[in-house]
Amino acid sequence: MPGGRKQLLLWIAAALAATAALAIILIRERRPDARHSLYIVGDPQRGSTLFYGAKQCSICHSVNGTGGHIAPDLAATRPGMPAMGWLATAMWNHAPGMFRRIRGSQSYPQLDSQEMADILAFLFRAANSDRPGDIVAGADIFQRKGCVQCHSVRSSGGHSAPELSAIAAGGATEWMSAMWNHAQSMIGPVTTVLGQWPEFSGNDMNNLLVYVSGGVGVEAKNEMAGDAERGWTVFQKRCIQCHSVRGNGGKVGPELGPEHELPLSATQFASVLWNHAPAMVRLARENGAAPVLEKTEMADVVAFVASLRYVEPTGSRFVGERVFNVRGCARCHGASAEGTQLGPEIQAHGDAYTAVSLTTALWKHGPKMVDRAEELGIAWPTLEANDLGDLVSFLNRTEK
Ligand code: HEC
Ligand code: HEC
Ligand code: HEC
Ligand code: HEC
Repeated sequence: MPGGRKQLLLWIAAALAATAALAIILIRERRPDARHSLYIVGDPQRGSTLFYGAKQCSICHSVNGTGGHIAPDLAATRPGMPAMGWLATAMWNHAPGMFRRIRGSQSYPQLDSQEMADILAFLFRAANSDRPGDIVAGADIFQRKGCVQCHSVRSSGGHSAPELSAIAAGGATEWMSAMWNHAQSMIGPVTTVLGQWPEFSGNDMNNLLVYVSGGVGVEAKNEMAGDAERGWTVFQKRCIQCHSVRGNGGKVGPELGPEHELPLSATQFASVLWNHAPAMVRLARENGAAPVLEKTEMADVVAFVASLRYVEPTGSRFVGERVFNVRGCARCHGASAEGTQLGPEIQAHGDAYTAVSLTTALWKHGPKMVDRAEELGIAWPTLEANDLGDLVSFLNRTEK
């Protein structure tokens, strides 16, 4: 097998492992205008297969370095909030350049809404996966954070606590579960011996994990084998008594819904949990609860929390109407999207528009829209991430 192709396949395997079975849930809230709530599932694993396979995005694009280099690496496109709106508008804004390339090179790939959701889910996870850790920095962390005083790694270090390399070799999820489950018995001794609870930031945990595991790459491990729907069940069982999601749940700990900023890579999320362990454990004890997690439960909770960050952007139809006009969509589609001879009436076929289906419509009609804009000398309308939710609300309004 030629090296490039082999590398590609290896990368795909890693990406699949890193994203396996993570279901991304887009929960669309029930609106007064009586759209039925949607529960779209985009699967990053399927998205990866489409991206590198049938839809041939990888002819031009790479993700985390693997793929073509004609067009931007899409994992470098780090989604802001809302992630969906951000990715969709990135694609929209670059449509003219992209469509010109695609037209010149091959037959144009068709994408339905499910495929688009899968690809966006894949890009979202890929942009938030752990980069390879630094083993030297990890050894330093192990010393500096004081772990070495009690734990050994491959026989060097203290022996009052378990040797850690086997558990780290199990990957980020196993490591996180072990830390979480042992935090209760560790907090006393650790704070006594070290004088304080050692906190982690940035890439610390990633580096530590690579060192402790002996160089087993975190990203090659099945660290993200979580299922968001199962994670929601775990969350309700183990976390919701203290944490709320969109206001539903306990108020003892911080709200963990999409507006609350949290890191999404497995090891950065692990750092956040670790830093807060003393407060959580103290409260759990006071409430007579010891939140012990099974191995897959940790992965599932992480998948659930990540999926919350991938929400459908919400918006206002009134702002949307303004955006539609100010950005120049109305030039061709009319002030109320009623259609002109330059562009059709915009009407969702069947279900209401979502960010995914609007992006799918762009993908389908984009080349013609771009042509039309060029013919007429109209500048391509540039959108901002927040516009998308507003546009969707505007296009879905019931009365015209
Ligand atoms: C024939 C080459 C080609 C193919 C195939 C292609 N693209 Fe692109 N894409 C481009 C180019 C070129 C740009 C940058 C255009 C510009 O900036 O003017 C781009 C830009 C983008 C952007 C915006 C990137 C950013 O950094 O803001 C996204 C997202 C994107 N493409 C997604 C896709 C997806 C998903 C597929 C597959 C369904 C795909 N592209 C297939 C050439 C391609
Ligand atoms: C004061 C001693 C002490 C220090 C310092 C300490 N630990 Fe521990 N650690 C323990 C003990 C004791 C256990 C076993 C707890 C139990 O059995 O519940 C443990 C268990 C663990 C486990 C679970 C091991 C397993 O086999 O399941 C992990 C992971 C861990 N520690 C990580 C760390 C890290 C990372 C650091 C440094 C930031 C650290 N510990 C610092 C005493 C310590
Ligand atoms: C007994 C109450 C309690 C339970 C149960 C609990 N937590 Fe917490 N959690 C807290 C408290 C209190 C804090 C804030 C701690 C602090 O500020 O140091 C916190 C902090 C956090 C944070 C950090 C938030 C931030 O950005 O600062 C995360 C993430 C988190 N918890 C996740 C979870 C998950 C996931 C579960 C279920 C597996 C869970 N917690 C179970 C009480 C709890
Ligand atoms: C230069 C004229 C022009 C501009 C500007 C323009 N469009 Fe279009 N649009 C078109 C044309 C022409 C079509 C039909 C393309 C086809 O038939 O494939 C279309 C199709 C669409 C569709 C698909 C409609 C369907 O039936 O599924 C959507 C959605 C859409 N445009 C949204 C927008 C939005 C949102 C904007 C502003 C950000 C915009 N358009 C700006 C010309 C334009």
